[in-house]
Amino acid sequence: MLCLLFILVTLSMISYTLVIQKTQREFLRRQAKSVSRQIVLTRQWIASLGGVWSKDAYSRPHGFLTTYKNDSDTDQASEFYLHNPALATREISSLADLKYGYNFRVVSDLFREPKNEPDGFENDALNKIRNQNLEYADGFDGGLYRYAEPLYVKKGCMKCHGDLDEDVKEPMKSVLLNKYGTRAFGYKVGDVRGIISIQIPRDSVLRILTSVFTWWNFIIGAVSVFLFYFFTRFVIAKPLIRLTEAATQLSKGEIDIDLGVESIQEDTRNEIAQLTLAFERLRKSFQIMYNKISRIKEKGITLPKLR
Ligand code: HEC
Repeated sequence: MLCLLFILVTLSMISYTLVIQKTQREFLRRQAKSVSRQIVLTRQWIASLGGVWSKDAYSRPHGFLTTYKNDSDTDQASEFYLHNPALATREISSLADLKYGYNFRVVSDLFREPKNEPDGFENDALNKIRNQNLEYADGFDGGLYRYAEPLYVKKGCMKCHGDLDEDVKEPMKSVLLNKYGTRAFGYKVGDVRGIISIQIPRDSVLRILTSVFTWWNFIIGAVSVFLFYFFTRFVIAKPLIRLTEAATQLSKGEIDIDLGVESIQEDTRNEIAQLTLAFERLRKSFQIMYNKISRIKEKGITLPKLR
């Protein structure tokens, strides 16, 4: 009984852990997906404007694509800085990292900016996504959940990533050529330009397990163990022990045994009760035979010996 109970508890713990693992992955995947949608939309918006300009002193570590000085302003000269989609992504990501504990970046096998070089997971994900035409790739990497989605080239991207002669126009052309050379041009609408890569810290399954366990789980567990014990003890084991004792008595010739069959209905669906009824019939047949033999003996008739 104890062994069986132990096996049952172990198996249910394993199945519980697997369910948690699967739920956790699904949950993280959904979270990453919605983050990714949001970034793709933001980037698309920035690309459709040809990048966004910010005004006045800009000294972030991320740099800027180009500047523009407005001298026509009579009060004061203003300086503007251009943020292309990849740069804006990096800027937003550094905020997310700080505030929400997850981060994302945009990487490509043909990177212009060394910071956008893919790592091991990102390289695999990019190849898989490109070769198998996947919507996403994901996995666990130590304490991190990692997720990647393709970034397709849209019309708005062409002015900085399209054909150098046809799509990329001045003055952007010179800015890009001066800063990055001829890298990452020549894409067509629909190409996979790179991936958006998202990392979310992952809680250990043990921590989730312990946080999910409350006194209520414990009480429910204890009640089910008690019910299981009660059922096997009183509904299965006890009647079987009684039948075993009766069989032993019968084998010794004691046929006046009370099996308590009065309370059992003939058409019962309880197998043990049916067994008891069958046993009672067997006992009665024995009794009838015994009585007959006794009467024959009383009449002085000798029976042939059994071989
Ligand atoms: C205003 C010009 C501009 C537009 C529009 C633009 N990009 Fe870029 N993109 C760049 C520059 C410059 C870099 C490299 C430097 C950096 O990371 O800021 C870059 C980098 C990237 C990277 C990272 C790999 C690398 O080369 O470093 C990806 C992926 C990318 N862009 C995809 C896109 C997609 C997709 C679109 C359209 C939705 C788009 N870009 C629109 C200028 C642009």
